[in-house]
Amino acid sequence: MRQLGDGVAATTEAGVLIGTALWWEFGSTASSLGMVLVRADWQGRGVGRALMQAGLRHIGPRGLMLNATDAGLALYRKLGFRPVGVVAQHQGVLRAPPPSRAETRRAQPADHAALIALDAQAFGAPRASALAQLFRDGVCHLVEKAGQITGFAIRRRFGLGQAVGPVVAANERDAISLIGACLATGFLRIDIADEWAELAGWLNGAGLSRVGTVTTMIRGDWPARGGAAHRFALVNQGIG
Ligand SMILES: CC(C)(COP(=O)(O)OP(=O)(O)OC[C@H]1O[C@@H](n2cnc3c(N)ncnc32)[C@H](O)[C@@H]1OP(=O)(O)O)[C@@H](O)C(=O)NCCC(=O)NCCS
Repeated sequence: MRQLGDGVAATTEAGVLIGTALWWEFGSTASSLGMVLVRADWQGRGVGRALMQAGLRHIGPRGLMLNATDAGLALYRKLGFRPVGVVAQHQGVLRAPPPSRAETRRAQPADHAALIALDAQAFGAPRASALAQLFRDGVCHLVEKAGQITGFAIRRRFGLGQAVGPVVAANERDAISLIGACLATGFLRIDIADEWAELAGWLNGAGLSRVGTVTTMIRGDWPARGGAAHRFALVNQGIG
């Protein structure tokens, strides 16, 4: 996360780390911000605000997105962010068999440019470096119809097991097929946009239960999304 972006840290006078804020730039107009963390015994003393103000100065007038925990909501509202959606965190150990994989195949290096372009349409801004890292670290499956790539999903090692994301697809059925194609045994996590009820229902039924939500917030203008693809799952809550 650090290598893909930039950030600020807060330290005590003795140089002990007590807080961080990181951000990631996508093209010339959009950024996301995350990993806003203040050590528990330093919370409520202005460190979070100072980190955010330093970050905002660096980021400048770009459209800025973040996913806020309840703890951060008040601070972000005060700094001009407005809520635009909800992200649901699902996790657990898969217990239902994955759905049909008929239309999916493993992505090849020759597909990567098309996948980066599809992601940019669904997200609103290009994320070539983040995706290149995910292609190196993870396993990517795509949906291809009549020679046209219409969706993809990436699984990678993360935390207690594996994480799936991003998931970009033309519809919920394809998103579920892609996630099914990516799934592995053991602990899995996926963060989905909360508007996809069929996907959420399938995840809950398959053993990946909804365990919490965060609020997506934007400051300034987010670039318009294009094309027919939707972003069903995030890379993670920081990058979006
Ligand atoms: C969220 C977090 C980063 C805030 O950092 P902090 O150093 O405690 O925040 P600050 O002391 O700078 O306070 C920020 C502002 O929010 C306000 N605030 C905080 N909680 C509030 C609440 N429940 N209602 C109203 N205002 C609130 C504070 O009054 C302050 O406002 P002010 O600057 O105008 O006085 C910190 O609590 C944290 O690390 N939490 C755990 C991790 C987390 O959830 N991070 C957010 C990820 S999106």
